[in-house]
Amino acid sequence: MAASPEIVQKARELRQQLRYHNHRYYVLDDPEISDDGYDRLFRELQMLETAHPELSAADSPTRRVGGEPIPAFVSVPHVVPMLSLGNVFSAEELHDFERRIRDRLPPDSRDIEYCAELKLDGLAISLIYEQGRFIYGATRGDGTTGEDISHNLRTIRNLPQVLDFTEPPALLEVRGEVLMPRAGFLRLNAEAAAKGEKVFANPRNAAAGSVRQLDPAIAARRPLAFYAYSVVRAEGVNLPQTQFEVLQWLKSGGFTLSDEIRMGSGLAFVEQFYEDIGQRREQLPFDIDGVVIKVNSLQKQQQLGFVSREPRWAVAWKFPAQRAVTTVEAVDFQVGRTGALTPVARLRPVLVGGVTVSNVTLHNLDEIRRLGLHVGDTVEVMRAGDVIPKVDRVVSSLPGAMPVEMPCQCPVCGSAIVQEEGGVVARCSGDYTCEAQVQRRLAHFVSRKAMDIDGLGERWLVQLLDAGLVRNSADLYRLTESALLEAGLEGMGEKLAANIVLAIAKSRETTLPRFLFSLGIRGVGESTALSLAEYFGDIDALMQADVEVLKQVPDVGEVSAAWIVGYFSQPEHRELIQAFRDAGVIWKPVERHHVQPLAGQTWVLTGALTVFSRDEAKVRLQKLGAKVSGSVSKKTSVVVAGEAAGSKLEDANRLGVAVWSEEQLLAMLREQGLD
Ligand code: IVH
Repeated sequence: MAASPEIVQKARELRQQLRYHNHRYYVLDDPEISDDGYDRLFRELQMLETAHPELSAADSPTRRVGGEPIPAFVSVPHVVPMLSLGNVFSAEELHDFERRIRDRLPPDSRDIEYCAELKLDGLAISLIYEQGRFIYGATRGDGTTGEDISHNLRTIRNLPQVLDFTEPPALLEVRGEVLMPRAGFLRLNAEAAAKGEKVFANPRNAAAGSVRQLDPAIAARRPLAFYAYSVVRAEGVNLPQTQFEVLQWLKSGGFTLSDEIRMGSGLAFVEQFYEDIGQRREQLPFDIDGVVIKVNSLQKQQQLGFVSREPRWAVAWKFPAQRAVTTVEAVDFQVGRTGALTPVARLRPVLVGGVTVSNVTLHNLDEIRRLGLHVGDTVEVMRAGDVIPKVDRVVSSLPGAMPVEMPCQCPVCGSAIVQEEGGVVARCSGDYTCEAQVQRRLAHFVSRKAMDIDGLGERWLVQLLDAGLVRNSADLYRLTESALLEAGLEGMGEKLAANIVLAIAKSRETTLPRFLFSLGIRGVGESTALSLAEYFGDIDALMQADVEVLKQVPDVGEVSAAWIVGYFSQPEHRELIQAFRDAGVIWKPVERHHVQPLAGQTWVLTGALTVFSRDEAKVRLQKLGAKVSGSVSKKTSVVVAGEAAGSKLEDANRLGVAVWSEEQLLAMLREQGLD
């Protein structure tokens, strides 16, 4: 059936709206509608186009779901070869780069202006536009010939199909990088993991795996983005004179550029850019592996030309490797606050991302088995998004290398090791006789979320224990300046002693939840401590509670109830609590949040939150009366989905449970005065 004028008009409007929202989302990073809202518009247009195929314009945003699979990749020659960049790794090498440029430019043009950009860690792509319309795009290939991947590129939401220029160039060849922003990568992997499918090692592999598919429907489901960084051919247009201005011009034509593009002269400017980006690297929305410095004047670029397939006018200043290979010299077992033994690999020191790494946790025996790690192995160490290094894989083992075994005795106190929780956790049975446990308990007691005693780092705690000044946490409240000074502690002076005693004194006045948390009772984290405090109001009632009573408390199950009862039934713990009271430790009456608008509701937190930790958010929701659960059911009131939310978000969608973003949660908490 031929489309009526109203339908033609409606399709046009929908297309315009979708283009507008793509622009807001990708280019301005400021979406106006939710993903759901976008999908609704998208499906509406798709339905119209299916019913009236004549409406389906080649550049319609619906084409981005991907057309038919292609039988095979077609090779395309690059008219302008796709070359690579030279690398520098230090300020000295950068000086050499500038000297080489200076030597080649006329003496009057020595003050070199640079355009500084990010070195995006994706896949180099070249795009051809004719009269402002996207014609095809290809991979780098061997630099001379690439593969036509237009079918996949058309699915990338921020890759313009039609340029925004009033007078588009007859021909334009734009180069840039296809990448997968981290948030999308994490979401994709979480979804894959939930379905038991293979996960990608990093966003770069995920992007590469997505564009090298014959079926465009696969790329269409992957959160890919295109970032432009240069123009290599332009006909029928006068390009600006500098790289910086060319980039702004590309932006005005509808291309997405990174926000981190700067212009400036001299190496001090470049060094500052490199330092600044290096510090903010983890906060960028995508992975980068360095910065790229380009001579800003296009005329000078021409004068400088190329040498051995690299431009003389540009260089990549790479960040130190985030991965390195080294050997495992030993595997030791560290004893934690609850006696749990954690294997730690002692490595031959190696630089990873600019930091020397010599110890990394191996978490547990299962992890060691998963890695297949032995003492003496050569391993690859990496620092991922977070700063904590880890062993990524075993590169090679020596023949006859010995497997790592759990010791039978505590390496610190010699007490027997007991296996718990189905053999996953091994624990030292030494309890208060184990120095390591005592020290870690003290460290927990003084930590920020517990009693928050400033200035008492592990260094001091070890010395206080060694000197016999404290045996348990209550002893801290008996410390005096003179005792600290007379004990001859290494590095202790009058000022420090006074500060420590003052910080301890300040912590005397605390809150019941903090105090309970600081005791380090198994199963009593920050949020359980809050629940217990709110339920019992004071510690005496809690100390008398049995398992049945404790199970009534939100957040307390059978196992932690037994641990809590076990803790308070030990005479030394009762004495410890009395010792705190005698030392003048007091807590304010428990503040109940009187308005409990979420009473009777069950909330679930999933994915990574950025402003609060999940525990912090949980405590706040509990204050408002909500029960916070770990699994989604029909009875769940709201699921808060953070970054990379996985199966719980799927469950919520399947069961029709309301899903909130972190922003919605924050707004609600702000309204309740709990931010
Ligand atoms: S300009 C003549 N700018 O780095 C080559 N390249 O080693 C000019 N890359 O695969 C390239 N970010 O895809 C340029 N801002 C940027 C870049 C960039 C990443 C990649 C590029 C190429 C590799 C060159």
